[in-house]
Amino acid sequence: MSRSAHPAGPRYADVIPEGHYSAPPADLNALDRRVWARTVGRDADGVATVGGLDVQRLAEEFGTPAYFLDEEDFRARCRAWREAFGDGADVFYAGKAFLSRAVVRWLHEEGLNLDVCSGGELATALAAGMPAERIALHGNNKSTEEIERAVREGVGRIVLDSFQEIVRVAHIAEKLGKRQRVQIRVTVGVEAHTHEFIATAHEDQKFGLPLAAGQAAEAVSRALRLEHLELVGIHSHIGSQIFDTSGFEVAAHRVVGLLKQVRDEHGVELPEIDLGGGLGIAYTADDDPREPHEIAKALSEIVTRECEGAGLAVPRISVEPGRAIVGPTAFTLYEVGTVKPLQGLRTYVSVDGGMSDNIRTALYDAEYSVALVSRTSDAEPMLSRVVGKHCESGDIVVRDAFLPADLAPGDLIAVPATGAYCRSMASNYNHALRPPVVAVKDGEARVIVRRETEEDLFRLDVG
Ligand code: LLP
Repeated sequence: MSRSAHPAGPRYADVIPEGHYSAPPADLNALDRRVWARTVGRDADGVATVGGLDVQRLAEEFGTPAYFLDEEDFRARCRAWREAFGDGADVFYAGKAFLSRAVVRWLHEEGLNLDVCSGGELATALAAGMPAERIALHGNNKSTEEIERAVREGVGRIVLDSFQEIVRVAHIAEKLGKRQRVQIRVTVGVEAHTHEFIATAHEDQKFGLPLAAGQAAEAVSRALRLEHLELVGIHSHIGSQIFDTSGFEVAAHRVVGLLKQVRDEHGVELPEIDLGGGLGIAYTADDDPREPHEIAKALSEIVTRECEGAGLAVPRISVEPGRAIVGPTAFTLYEVGTVKPLQGLRTYVSVDGGMSDNIRTALYDAEYSVALVSRTSDAEPMLSRVVGKHCESGDIVVRDAFLPADLAPGDLIAVPATGAYCRSMASNYNHALRPPVVAVKDGEARVIVRRETEEDLFRLDVG
């Protein structure tokens, strides 16, 4: 290969997509309401605050990196979902987004139900006193132990995901002398993406039984024949971080179609329909999520209309938001360790966490915002990439961001909207010690999940 085939090195235009960074935000110090938790602001000295406490003090007391969760915001979001759907529907918080015993208690107090997808989440829910009948157990490969525990405790529903599981749950219920309420998870052939949905072969995935091929209807027939199962409804979850309600509307339309088929073939009207979670949140100011009341209105209208058309009684609707409740309520606080300008490229800002506390950027190319929070600055915007301290070049927290050019080691920066799928997907990569989750409310901060210690590492590494 000739020398000229080798470029001298990456050029600005190669790494910065055209038009992408034409306009840095007008005010780098502003904490945009769309992406920050409800009580976040700045005090008179320019230090960011949450729940009335400033981040400088929080960092001193709890260290960094750490997740700070605005409890008032969390509770307000629970209430907004409850009120939007009203008494005729159920809201199940999806525990996979973030679960701890404190969170379970808040959910209980705010009248939400809980969706769990593993024995560990079920144990957490029960340990914190969530009544079993308000818990739904999910999963495409629940173990015998998980099913046994769920049935024995009397969970409100188990969402069945395969033909084998129908038999397995029925068998366990029979053995325990119980009749278990179940739903069947179906795939409706709607592929939901971040901003659009594409009606393609989304049935080609591990969850659920496809409607189109008749497997969902066959699953219903089999479940109805088993006396230790009480089939109460159909479940559909079309994806995550969705902004457009039309994907849900197509799903509702198709699920109601199945309810009609079940009525026609078996003379049974199933009383429940669960439309899953997946409602998007704002990670950057460009995102424009729907409000719970808009979603509730759209879903109940379509289900009502479809059922009236099919001559069916309107079933009880349930939804399972995870991200939309907890996502916006927390931010991750980091301390800047090094600031490395790369000539003609961008500045790499290294923080004291990384892909071990937020894998979403590396895993999904997720976009985040970031702000300097320990002070304000009048310096020029500096094109930055916030990276972690892990031994991996893909260890990126915020791929593209503007931070003030006077950013220096010791400054605190925060990444908003990290309440969902950050702590719950955190790892010990490089033997990182997973950060704490600190709940903040009315001027008080309380650790709800403590920081890991070296002793925690050695407890598992038994030598
Ligand atoms: N219900 C079911 C059956 C689900 O599978 C999920 C998410 C939810 C509810 C809650 O979805 P949400 O409202 O939180 O979007 N780790 C990925 C998300 C995976 C979601 C899996 N299932 C992420 O970080 O974006």
